[in-house]
Amino acid sequence: MRDNDQDRLRPRTRLIHTGRPSPALGRRFVNPPLVRGSTVLHPSTADRFAASQEYLDQALIYGIEGTPTHFALEDMVAAIEGGTRCQIVSTGLNALAVALLAYARAGGHLLMPDSVYGPTRSFCERMLKPLGVETEYYPPTESPDAIGAGLRENTIALFIESPGSHSFEMQDVPALARIARAREIPVIMDNTWGIHVFQPFQHGVDVSVQALTKYVGGHSDLLLGAVTVSTEAHWVRIRTAAMLLGAYASADDCWLALRGARTLAVRLDQQMQAGLTLARWFADRPEVARVLHPALPGAPGHAIWRRDYTGAPSLFGVEFHPRIAHEKIIAMVDGLRLFGIGASWGGYESLVLPSLNLKRTHGTAFQGAAVRFHVGLEDTADLLADLTQAFEALA
Ligand SMILES: Cc1ncc(COP(=O)(O)O)c(C=O)c1O
Repeated sequence: MRDNDQDRLRPRTRLIHTGRPSPALGRRFVNPPLVRGSTVLHPSTADRFAASQEYLDQALIYGIEGTPTHFALEDMVAAIEGGTRCQIVSTGLNALAVALLAYARAGGHLLMPDSVYGPTRSFCERMLKPLGVETEYYPPTESPDAIGAGLRENTIALFIESPGSHSFEMQDVPALARIARAREIPVIMDNTWGIHVFQPFQHGVDVSVQALTKYVGGHSDLLLGAVTVSTEAHWVRIRTAAMLLGAYASADDCWLALRGARTLAVRLDQQMQAGLTLARWFADRPEVARVLHPALPGAPGHAIWRRDYTGAPSLFGVEFHPRIAHEKIIAMVDGLRLFGIGASWGGYESLVLPSLNLKRTHGTAFQGAAVRFHVGLEDTADLLADLTQAFEALA
């Protein structure tokens, strides 16, 4: 693709045309070659010294700064999220750690949604707290003004994760970002659920984190994280933090992620439809109290989803009536044949995971037991038949 064509293209076209060998090369293969490497050889000592000043750019310096395979994936992720630059690191959790450490300072205060991904909370409590950063957890369904009232002089960032992990609360990102920006406080968002169907930078986010492990990889065979930024000033922070930490990802995994990403939009379309079909089935079951799927009409957060999103992934929660005993729900989960019991999401296979024992500061997330479903690429009729037989355990 020619460089300045990118801005007028939609995210799903950018998935196909970014991170590819430049037409300026003349003859070229469709896919970028896989480049692995630690040492970079220089033509002269002067070039070696010059290179060390170029770490903010996609320059060949040393393996940690990246290879052309990393740069290709970074270009693609920045393009699909509508950001300026992207740093690829080893996992989604590593990306969250890099983003938070880039702004952390002793005596600082961090605002986090109570529904944040569990390991992010653990990072704040077990890593940032001893370093002198206080994390305050806000109820994600409070009004943006009420959340904004929690910003302080020493707030280092407003963190958003929308929808929340396991409980799927949608946050009003544009309103929150407006409030934080007026105070010049950076907005960091975990946009893993939003992939390319939520454009964080159009809604005022400064730093967007994605676990590429999920739908971008798409095959449950790699781990990768991305930190994408809105401006050069945020890039200096993020890139510097990543380099100081020696944050790195395997070039092989970047190459696999690039390959997976080419089919991301069609997989997501299919998985979104299958996910909604199952969500409607759950909503009709008498054992189910609430279906936590923001793209399902009538579900919590649906109005925000309709306003801000162009699609949805196939990850959602099902909350059962409190009268259904936990043991029966566990028996139902164990009785599923096509849904693997396991962490993570975004692959081609359907998964299920009970959302028990969630740590929350402000009360519990659920009245009854909840189960998270990830819908894969199987035939929906087979998935529904599997659910029907497994639900007999709830009788
Ligand atoms: C919302 C969210 N963010 C980040 C991550 C972390 O990704 P990774 O597994 O690549 O560390 C996960 C993983 O489940 C997640 O669900």
